[in-house]
Amino acid sequence: MIVAQNVPLQSYNSFGIVAKAHTLVRIHTEADALVAQLDLKNCPEGRCVLGGGTNIVLTGDVKPRVLKVEIAGRQLVSETEKAWTVEAGAGEDWHDFVTWTLSQGWPGLENLALIPGSVGASPVQNIGAYGVELQDRFESLDALDLDSGQIFTLNAAQCAFGYRDSVFKHASSGPNGMGLAGRALILRVRFYLPKAWKPVLGYLDLERKMTETGIQQPNAQQIYDWVCDIRRQKLPDPKVLGNAGSFFKNPTVTPEQCADIIARDPKVVHYPMPDGTIKLAAGWLIDACGWKGKSVGNAAVYEKQALVLVNRGGATGGEVVTLAKAIQTSVYERFGIRLEPEPVVI
Ligand code: EPU
Repeated sequence: MIVAQNVPLQSYNSFGIVAKAHTLVRIHTEADALVAQLDLKNCPEGRCVLGGGTNIVLTGDVKPRVLKVEIAGRQLVSETEKAWTVEAGAGEDWHDFVTWTLSQGWPGLENLALIPGSVGASPVQNIGAYGVELQDRFESLDALDLDSGQIFTLNAAQCAFGYRDSVFKHASSGPNGMGLAGRALILRVRFYLPKAWKPVLGYLDLERKMTETGIQQPNAQQIYDWVCDIRRQKLPDPKVLGNAGSFFKNPTVTPEQCADIIARDPKVVHYPMPDGTIKLAAGWLIDACGWKGKSVGNAAVYEKQALVLVNRGGATGGEVVTLAKAIQTSVYERFGIRLEPEPVVI
């Protein structure tokens, strides 16, 4: 465990916002996590857990103690006739982990290639892309309760996954009192990868790739390559242009609300959901309000994907938040829809 004071966080948040952690604790092992938890008793300023830093907006120096999870390691934990179960330390880079599973001959995570962030953060957000969500491949995880010091295991049902949502995003005082926000430090995550692999190709961008290449039955590696290609074309590389991926969730509306919007804007991009609601493309709504390329200070709306806010260089968290609020207001005024941000503002 390494403890340091006044640590610059610019390279630890994918927005590249300049801020410092008053105290940063690097956690490399489960033992480190247990020691760090005991130390919290002498820490009235509170704590926050930092994974890959790809889903946060820093609005100033961070006074709570920052617990930076850097637990490494990946391994096959079991193999049956039906599936491989693979485990990774919370500090492993998500994309490197996906790449490694494929190189070992264990397909299943290819649609989730190139999502920035760490393995430990992946269940928090229930990351998803191109028709697959983390919950579809999740087996279980181990975490440390920062209040009690107990290590516990959760299965998928206990994680209460939803669209970009889980038990880790809800406060314990929530409606069911079961939230673990700010309380769980995820140590390692296990994935269940069935041997009866089936490609997931329903997404429009992937269908286009099939037509372009003439490959109608791609293997997992080909899907991985396509997903990487699509993401590189649409989404900015955080190493080049700071960003936190999609800034807002895609909202759902009732069929009546959707019909009302279609009557005014026939081109609105919408997808019926299995539960009868309709999902709208937030990127389209923001784009329709004319936000592409617009900026507040050095925070801007990405030219190629209106759902992504970027740091053109030197943006503050305040500028990002002001821009996000202005977007929310204009989408609300035009469509009557409240966009919900994905990243956590610290
Ligand atoms: N669109 C526009 N203008 C824009 C952006 C999008 O008209 O500026 C339209 C597109 O043409 C398309 C539709 O909106 O018809 C949806 O766009 P896209 O396929 O790019 O997907 P998305 O809904 O914007 C979601 C996820 C992404 C994920 C992709 C692929 C959310 C909030 N975002 O984006 O996840 O990679 O689908 O599955 O659900 C992330 O969460 O950080 C993320 C990148």
